[in-house]
Amino acid sequence: MTRITSVQSWYLGVTLPLILAAFLHQGFATVAPPTSPPHKDVRPDRGQYNVTNANGTVCLLAYMGLQLNMSFTSASLNKTVIDVFNLKPNETKSSGGCESDHAMLILSSDIDKINLTFGFILNTTSKKYHLSNVTLSALLTDMKERLSVTNGSLNYLRGTLGYSYMCRDEQTLNVSVNVSINTFQVQVQPFAVSGNQFGAAEECQLDEDDMLIPIIVGAALAGLVLVVLLAYLIGRKRSHAGYQTI
Ligand SMILES: *[C@@H]1O[C@H](CO)[C@@H](O)[C@H](O)[C@H]1NC(C)=O
Ligand SMILES: *[C@@H]1O[C@H](CO)[C@@H](O)[C@H](O)[C@H]1NC(C)=O
Ligand SMILES: *[C@@H]1O[C@H](CO)[C@@H](O)[C@H](O)[C@H]1NC(C)=O
Ligand SMILES: *[C@@H]1O[C@H](CO)[C@@H](O)[C@H](O)[C@H]1NC(C)=O
Ligand SMILES: *[C@@H]1O[C@H](CO)[C@@H](O)[C@H](O)[C@H]1NC(C)=O
Ligand SMILES: *[C@@H]1O[C@H](CO)[C@@H](O)[C@H](O)[C@H]1NC(C)=O
Ligand SMILES: *[C@@H]1O[C@H](CO)[C@@H](O)[C@H](O)[C@H]1NC(C)=O
Ligand SMILES: *[C@@H]1O[C@H](CO)[C@@H](O)[C@H](O)[C@H]1NC(C)=O
Ligand SMILES: *[C@@H]1O[C@H](CO)[C@@H](O)[C@H](O)[C@H]1NC(C)=O
Ligand SMILES: *[C@@H]1O[C@H](CO)[C@@H](O)[C@H](O)[C@H]1NC(C)=O
Ligand SMILES: *[C@@H]1O[C@H](CO)[C@@H](O)[C@H](O)[C@H]1NC(C)=O
Repeated sequence: MTRITSVQSWYLGVTLPLILAAFLHQGFATVAPPTSPPHKDVRPDRGQYNVTNANGTVCLLAYMGLQLNMSFTSASLNKTVIDVFNLKPNETKSSGGCESDHAMLILSSDIDKINLTFGFILNTTSKKYHLSNVTLSALLTDMKERLSVTNGSLNYLRGTLGYSYMCRDEQTLNVSVNVSINTFQVQVQPFAVSGNQFGAAEECQLDEDDMLIPIIVGAALAGLVLVVLLAYLIGRKRSHAGYQTI
């Protein structure tokens, strides 16, 4: 009997690592091949886009990657296509203006024939700002005609005066049925910029949701450790007490 069980446990001892190794190998095999993603899945580079006031002070700061998702009529195919386009920071100029309760960031690329305007407004009573207006005019090489959209009733990138808005996660801003903008690692501050620097960041809901899982897992683990520790202490006290009575 003891021989058999020792053989069995030996068998288990050998096979378990083998099974584990097989699993790991499979896992690595599926991850390993260098997947060259199609051009369209490439994330846009983050650009530092600033707006400077007439008196030379920076009044709006934006640090973000932008990807335009546009539906338009292709000149070469003569049909409607959906195409994504990454704004290249080195080919994009920023300009705009800042007033006490509204600010504008204009991004333009001569090479790609794109003008993209972000309009922010500040509610001076509630001290909250948001992106309210987006205007896009684009004439990419394959466009049969100029694409032109504007939406002045948006409510994105909501922040508080004196703070910057930040979102690490990818976010989609719907502008019109034919245009949406994917943002990557956004940090913007359209009002009350002081000393060319972002104010403290307010993180978007998406990021907070991402943080929630590790926090819950961490709390659960901490709870478990506490329970085990308590059980151990109580057990020790009991056995100690038991020993004394004997
Ligand atoms: C620059 O202009 C902004 C508003 O346009 C104003 O708040 C600020 O005081 C001005 N700074 C200087 C140095 O004039
Ligand atoms: C672009 O927009 C279309 C239609 O709204 C959507 O189906 C597609 O997933 C979007 N692509 C990206 C990369 O966001
Ligand atoms: C969206 O694009 C299609 C095809 O290019 C066009 O027919 C339609 O008018 C556009 N819709 C809007 C609201 O611009
Ligand atoms: C493009 O397609 C439209 C109908 O969808 C047609 O009337 C037009 O002649 C086509 N143009 C070319 C250059 O093929
Ligand atoms: C901008 O950078 C891209 C690569 O990120 C490069 O292909 C392109 O030539 C650059 N354009 C200019 C005007 O420097
Ligand atoms: C500004 O915020 C206040 C308080 O939240 C609100 O009552 C008011 O309607 C807002 N004003 C505008 C123009 O949205
Ligand atoms: C972008 O704006 C400039 C200056 O207003 C203008 O000359 C250019 O034609 C515009 N480009 C597009 C694609 O609308
Ligand atoms: C949005 O901005 C464009 C120009 O950038 C302007 O023509 C339009 O009136 C603005 N719309 C609203 C509702 O502010
Ligand atoms: C944007 O539009 C897509 C479909 O067109 C929708 O699934 C998504 O919920 C919209 N996002 C927001 C923030 O409205
Ligand atoms: C402007 O955007 C809002 C929010 O995404 C949407 O409900 C509305 O239909 C858009 N307006 C136009 C003209 O596309
Ligand atoms: C924008 O401002 C930041 C911070 O002041 C600076 O580091 C960066 O060089 C500026 N970018 C441009 C294009 O002016």
